[in-house]
Amino acid sequence: MNACIRAVVRAAIHFDFEVYGVQRGYQGLIENSIKKMSAGSVANIIQLGGTVLKTARSKEFMTPEGRKKAYENLQKHGIEGLVCIGGNGTYTGAMIFEKEFGIPSVGCPGTIDNDLSGTDYTIGYDTAINTAMDAIDKIRDTADSHNRVFFIEVMGRHSGHIALNAGIAGGAEGIFIPERENELRDIMKTYENKRRKKEFSIFVVAEGEEDGKAFDIAHKFQEAYPETDCKVTVLGHIQRGGRPTANDRILASRLGAHAVKALSEGHRNVAIGVIDNSIELTPFQEAIYAKKDVNENLWVMNSIITR
Ligand code: F6P
Repeated sequence: MNACIRAVVRAAIHFDFEVYGVQRGYQGLIENSIKKMSAGSVANIIQLGGTVLKTARSKEFMTPEGRKKAYENLQKHGIEGLVCIGGNGTYTGAMIFEKEFGIPSVGCPGTIDNDLSGTDYTIGYDTAINTAMDAIDKIRDTADSHNRVFFIEVMGRHSGHIALNAGIAGGAEGIFIPERENELRDIMKTYENKRRKKEFSIFVVAEGEEDGKAFDIAHKFQEAYPETDCKVTVLGHIQRGGRPTANDRILASRLGAHAVKALSEGHRNVAIGVIDNSIELTPFQEAIYAKKDVNENLWVMNSIITR
């Protein structure tokens, strides 16, 4: 997100706008935590994870009173448009705010889950899958040395993008994602066939998997194969931090710079995205509600090479 903030500030200055940074998202608008930014204020942040502006889930912004306070604070600073980095909640808040007070917003998709439509990739996703892959590589050493079966849980509340892609990159024998069914049945079948040849296995489970979390699936597997030594690792928030990858920094820079350009051209209620390496604008409504499925070709390819 820092690469995106940097790009927004620098592009805004290029277009002769005054630019302000809002601390802690919508909550900062309500609390008037708004400060003027300069080109220098975003120097030396592109390599940092997290966000220098900080973030929050604002319950108050969900109320008309909270949004009124936010509007009054924007008026004080003469702010006429917003660039919002986030996901569904952020876009929904921006749409309601625009409807009530006429403040135009342009969104930059920021979530490690990569589950927003209107872009091939979201900010943070590439870093997250690289972190997960790195962890899988490390866990593989124990799995191999001790002949264990590992179930590694990755993030993805409602989606399997991280699990599928980190699982392929990490060479997992099986992947569990909420978008597909019967993975345990299929994996058990493959496992039965390979059992005599292969002594350890790695399975990647999306946290939103409908058959349960990694612990539930590992439990079922252990019951079916009592002789195996099953272990579970939940990767958790390590996937949401750390030094961003080059791909993430480039994507975030492109999205941030184009968000300012779009605002300057009078666009509102749209999310910026990169599709097939081109910048695209998608109405918030569509970006929120059109579910982005995982790549079916990848899923099929992976089932072929792991059978
Ligand atoms: O941003 C989405 C996500 O990464 C989910 O995959 C995960 O469940 C969630 O955030 C965790 O959010 P929090 O840190 O608020 O628990």
